[in-house]
Amino acid sequence: MANILCIGAGYVGGPTMAVIAQKCPEHRVVVVDIDGTKITAWQSDRLPIYEPGLKEVVLSCRDKNLFFSPEVERHIAEADIIFVSVNTPTKTFGQGAGKAADLQYWEKTARLILQHSRTPKIVVEKSTLPVRTAEAMEQILHSDDRDLPFDVVSNPEFLSEGTAIRNMENPDRVLIGARDTPSGRRAMQAIVDIYAHWVPRERIITTNLWSSELSKLVANAFLAQRISSINSISALCEKTEADIQEIAHAIGLDSRIGPRFLNASVGFGGSCFKKDILNLVYLCEHYGLPEVARYWEQVVRMNEYQQARFHSCILSSMFNTVAGKRIALFGGAFKANTSDTRESPALNVCRALVEERAEVVLTDPYALDNARIDLGEDARRVTFEPDPYAAAVNAHAIAILTEWPLFVDLDYEAIYRSMAKPAFIFDGRNILDHRSLFSIGFNVQAIGKPPLIHPAR
Ligand code: UDX
Ligand code: UDX
Repeated sequence: MANILCIGAGYVGGPTMAVIAQKCPEHRVVVVDIDGTKITAWQSDRLPIYEPGLKEVVLSCRDKNLFFSPEVERHIAEADIIFVSVNTPTKTFGQGAGKAADLQYWEKTARLILQHSRTPKIVVEKSTLPVRTAEAMEQILHSDDRDLPFDVVSNPEFLSEGTAIRNMENPDRVLIGARDTPSGRRAMQAIVDIYAHWVPRERIITTNLWSSELSKLVANAFLAQRISSINSISALCEKTEADIQEIAHAIGLDSRIGPRFLNASVGFGGSCFKKDILNLVYLCEHYGLPEVARYWEQVVRMNEYQQARFHSCILSSMFNTVAGKRIALFGGAFKANTSDTRESPALNVCRALVEERAEVVLTDPYALDNARIDLGEDARRVTFEPDPYAAAVNAHAIAILTEWPLFVDLDYEAIYRSMAKPAFIFDGRNILDHRSLFSIGFNVQAIGKPPLIHPAR
């Protein structure tokens, strides 16, 4: 039996540890967080995050071999293996502001581990970090006279929100990096053994520490790059009457390209893509590689351009003014099946329309609370409406910003009747049947598609 601890009970720490506890009943798994309210929520019926399947997994092992606790120090002392999944946001101050990762929580956690440890420990980097962070971690952990044996292992997460439990239960791969020393290899084996409870051995890959750390940034950069690539072509489609979904289908059938992550959209969001690419850009600059830095930075710039293009299209289609017009935004989450609104393109579009003095109504099945918090001051100028039908009443336009399946199945004839005319739909996710909406009477503009506009009568 091992005592496994996770520091950071967020989107990553909570689901990851719940699955490890369920799959490894002989281990004791404790999740701690400095935020006591989060811990209370993990102990309750209302978990702090919404993730399909999460509640079932938590309930199957909570208070058996899975525990949530605010007592960080005590559990550090008891642990054999410590996963660290505290947040590593983009730095907002000083050198590297706007790009580099803010490692202050990371370093504090390393110092806390050192301070409260009496026995040897394996410390696992779960958070996404700049390459070579493990070196700094090792230096901190070995900085006092006791010289306790600590091994630092990198085990990045590849969880995608909305499918986190599925990704954990059936991962494409598990990546584990460690030092090539006898104790480094032992530490690596201990982490391999945890995942080997349920992951086929050939899908658990082991590398050196730096490859593992950097692979996480590179995986996210490549995924985001595909979205920016298809989004850049969507702009060209709108000028040429080519159709972005036909193109994505045609190129995705090339097995060298593959079909996934080719959905043109209003832009990518989420807590990771932008942060991790900017971190990569900063690292390239730091290591004197400005050409490489500019190359990756463009992925983020293209994403900003796509969002700006979308709200400009709303404005220009609606006769260059939306002031005083009710506009229903369908979706606040950065993607479907999550309540997360971090870096959500939906909220950027919302802010831009508020700025234009539109009367914005936001509807979303799970993300309204987070949207209200993230919008800050602007929230006072937005109506939050859980019912999409009510949101659309008297609206001049609907903009689809999150690909929630429920938006596909609405009765758009009834919605059309309730709206101001001419009624517009802007499909930022290409999930609706545009031809049938057009025949109902809507003017339809979708990403990377020829516009369907009724001629003036
Ligand atoms: C975070 C990082 O953002 C991401 O880069 C990394 O890959 C995994 O960890 P996430 O779990 O989504 O992702 O972050 P968040 O939901 O903010 O959770 C982090 C938790 O750590 C918070 O609950 C926070 O209270 C906690 N924390 C932070 C600590 O317990 N101690 C600290 O010192 C700082
Ligand atoms: C991502 C990575 O997929 C995951 O491996 C990593 O651990 C964390 O970051 P996540 O941010 O949860 O996961 O969501 P993801 O499914 O990757 O989507 C990111 C954004 O891209 C969303 O806003 C989504 O709507 C958008 N997207 C995705 C597109 O616009 N088009 C696509 O084809 C795919």
